[in-house]
Amino acid sequence: MRSLGREPEHHWAMAEKLGDDASGYTPSMSEAQIDQVRSWHERAYREGRAEGAADQTFNYLGVSVVVPPEVMPVNPMSHLLGEAVLVEVHEGERVLDMGTGSGVNAVLAATRGADVLAVDTNPRAVDAARANAALNGVGDRLEVRHSDVFANVKGTFDLIVFDPPFRWFRPRDLLESAMTDENYEAMTRFFREARQHLSPRGRMLIFFGTSGDLDYLRRLMVDCGFSAEVLAHDELIRDGWKVEYFTFRVT
Ligand SMILES: C[S@@+](CC[C@H](N)C(=O)[O-])C[C@H]1O[C@@H](n2cnc3c(N)ncnc32)[C@H](O)[C@@H]1O
Repeated sequence: MRSLGREPEHHWAMAEKLGDDASGYTPSMSEAQIDQVRSWHERAYREGRAEGAADQTFNYLGVSVVVPPEVMPVNPMSHLLGEAVLVEVHEGERVLDMGTGSGVNAVLAATRGADVLAVDTNPRAVDAARANAALNGVGDRLEVRHSDVFANVKGTFDLIVFDPPFRWFRPRDLLESAMTDENYEAMTRFFREARQHLSPRGRMLIFFGTSGDLDYLRRLMVDCGFSAEVLAHDELIRDGWKVEYFTFRVT
C-alpha cells in the first residue's frame, strides 16, 4: 500500500519555512501522488456534476441541512470537524465559519449558543446557509454574508472554523470551487490574515486531508506563527493509497 499520509503531529517544530517567495505555490508531493490526486479530483467532480439539480437533505449531529447542487454536501468525514465544533464552542462566544458552504458548521456552533458569522464566495452557499440557519431555528444568532476570505469580515472571533478546498487546481465552476483553490491562493491569504481576527483566547479548527498538500498547509501555519494539535483523525484506502483526514486545533 502506498501512502499519501504524513505524521503531522511529529513534524511541526521542524517544518521548513515557506520563505518570502511563497506566493508561487509548488506542490510538495511526488509526480505519482499528484497524478493520483488529480484522478480523484476528476472523479469527484464528475460525480458531483452527475448528481444533477436536486437538493439533498442531511440529518447530521442533531441538525438538518438542505444542500443544493454546487454546494459541498455533508460527507463521511464531515463529522471529524462537526464533532470538534460541538466540543469546542461555548455559549456566548463569537465564531466565524470561513467557507461555510451549506452552513452546517455554523449551524452547529449556533446551536451551542455562539454568535456566528458565516461567509462564503459562492452565492448558492450563502443562500443555503441562511436557509439552513432558519430551518434549525438559529437565524437570530447566525449572520451569513458574501466574503472573499476576510475581505468583508471585521472584528475578532473566539473561534474560526475553516474546511478549505483541499486541491490547488484552477476551478472550472462553482461546484469545483468548493473542492479546489488555485495555487492555494485563498488558503494562503486566510492564514496570513487570520491572526488579526482572533481574540486573545482565539483558536481555530482547521480540517484538511492528504488528498490535498498537507505539507504545504503545515509550512503555511508555521510560517504564520501558528501551532497545531490533532483533535480528530481518520483514514481510508482509496485505489490502494492511504488517505488521512485531520481536524487540527490551531493557536
Ligand atoms: C470544502 S468546502 C467546505 C464547506 C463547509 N464548510 C463544509 O464543511 O461542508 C470549502 C468552502 O470554501 C468556500 N470558499 C472557497 N474559496 C473561498 C474564498 N476565497 N473565500 C471564502 N470562501 C471560499 C467554497 O465556496 C466552499 O463552500
